[in-house]
Order: sequence, then C-alpha cells, then structure tokens
Amino acid sequence: MGFRIIGILGSPLLSGNTARLLDSALRGASDAGCEVEKIEVANLTFRSCREIFYCREHETCAMKDDMIAIYEKFRELDSLIVATPVMTMGIPGALKSFMDRFQVFFMAKYVRKRSLVPESRRAHRRGLYLGISGMKVPNVFDGAKMTMKAFFSIVDVEYWDDLLIPDMDTIQDLTTRPDILESAYRKGYEMGRLLVEGST
Ligand SMILES: Cc1cc2nc3c(=O)[nH]c(=O)nc-3n(C[C@H](O)[C@H](O)[C@H](O)COP(=O)(O)O)c2cc1C
Repeated sequence: MGFRIIGILGSPLLSGNTARLLDSALRGASDAGCEVEKIEVANLTFRSCREIFYCREHETCAMKDDMIAIYEKFRELDSLIVATPVMTMGIPGALKSFMDRFQVFFMAKYVRKRSLVPESRRAHRRGLYLGISGMKVPNVFDGAKMTMKAFFSIVDVEYWDDLLIPDMDTIQDLTTRPDILESAYRKGYEMGRLLVEGST
C-alpha cells in the first residue's frame, strides 16, 4: 500500500482561502505518488474534551463520536498537513477542540510511555503547517505555531515545515496569487517525494 498523507482543514469555510491552500498542497502530495485524504473539522461531529481521563488507561476516548475513527486514521498516516486561519491570535476554536481530543495520544506517549503510532511510521512522519492571517502584524502566527508544535509532537509528527501567509485582508482572494498556491503545491509535493523516495 502507498503512503498516506492526511490534510486537516481548520477553517469553517470549506471553499475559502485556507481550503485553497490545503487543496494545492494535497494536489502536490498526490502528484508525488501519495494517497491523500482531506478531513474538514467543520464536518465532524464531536465535543470538546471533558477530562474524563478514560484515556489514562485506555487507547481510546470515552466520548463515542467522530473522533474515534479519526484516532485510527492518525495511527496510520505517514505525514500530516494542518491548514488553518488565525483566529483571535490563535487557531479556530473547533480546531483547538479537535486537537485537545488527542489527549488519547498524549496519555499513551507521555504517561504510559507507549505511543499509539507504530514505530515503523514514527521514523518518517512529517508535519506541515499552512497558516493564513487577515492582518500583517508581528507575531501574528506565534500562538498558532506553538499549538501546532505541541499537537505535532503529541501525534508523533516531526514539525517539518510551514507556509505562513499574512495580510489576507488585503489579498482577499488567493486565486489572484498563483505564486502562493504554487508554494503550497511545492511543499506538498516535497513532503510526498520524501516519503516515496525514502522508501526505495
Ligand atoms: C472569528 C475570526 C477571528 C479572526 N482573528 C484574527 C486575528 O486575530 N488575527 C488576524 O490576523 N486575522 C484574524 N482573522 C482573519 C482570518 O485569519 C482571515 O480572514 C483568513 O483569511 C480566513 O481564512 P478562511 O477564509 O480560509 O477561513 C479572524 C477571522 C475570524 C472570522
């Protein structure tokens, strides 16, 4: 079976600028020879972590919702792309809740010291953060980047690269900036190429 790259869309807009950026990166990964899957957080049904701590002893969550199937996908993926706009100087609340539900992975890795990710995959799993912000101000991506680094670490993905596009309030429509979409495509392609060529 081929290598699998999952792209997470954190924007509530399914056809917005963040989605365009993610689609370009996933097209690149697909052209490099990987299987790709896009997961739209806005289309998932789940609640935020309630600190039940069932995951202290179990490899899953007590809350039986869409996250249960997502955990399986995260055990198996070979690389991960997360695309999100900046909201209130961080990431959108739904995406943060999605990430918080990976306490299941946190407990396994850091408390029980037995990652849920097979060792064979841990060696090559890379993470790419695609970020956009409305404003062009210093540090606008800092909050999101800290969260992304923590999340990647929890799910055993190396923080490999990012593409951070500020000033969307001015740009408005990313289709007017094929250069930026091309950069996303190249990063996706490179992520895929590293997997495919690393396997030979
Ligand atoms: C609720 C909300 C909060 C936002 N907060 C910020 C912010 O703190 N800083 C910023 O630069 N842009 C902020 N933005 C602007 C978005 O990052 C920007 O519009 C982005 O292009 C939206 O991407 P999308 O169309 O793909 O969802 C915010 C937008 C919304 C809707």
